[in-house]
Amino acid sequence: MWKEHYRIGSELIDSQHHELFDRVASFIRAVQEEGAWEERLDQVQATLEFMKEYVVIHFNDEEALQREIGYPGLEKHAAVHAAFREEIRQFAQRVEEEGFDEEKVQEFAARVMTWLIMHVGREDQRIGEFIRSQGGQQ
Ligand SMILES: [Fe+2]
Ligand SMILES: [Fe+2]
Repeated sequence: MWKEHYRIGSELIDSQHHELFDRVASFIRAVQEEGAWEERLDQVQATLEFMKEYVVIHFNDEEALQREIGYPGLEKHAAVHAAFREEIRQFAQRVEEEGFDEEKVQEFAARVMTWLIMHVGREDQRIGEFIRSQGGQQ
């Protein structure tokens, strides 16, 4: 799912994006695989745990980069990150309260992938454009 043209010119952020795409793709595979749901649940759970933590790390690093380079869209971008972090938190909470069910997790996996493609493919690309307009790599 990762594409080379997603690179924004920061080695750290680009490798985190790559990792995120890989993880979400394997999350979707785990969700869609044949076989008993109970048997796939472990991987689904582990990936969800990973995502919860990694998204926080990534958003923090990306916002730190924006601050460092004086990116003018930082505030707006951080608000978009916060909204998605909240969405993940709410989903995790719902799962905690109601348990994992296949349909709910499938819906969530699709939502995360769509969000990632839209966000990395658009909003994050503007950081790359800014870096290039400032004349280089970070
Ligand atoms: Fe990002
Ligand atoms: Fe971002």
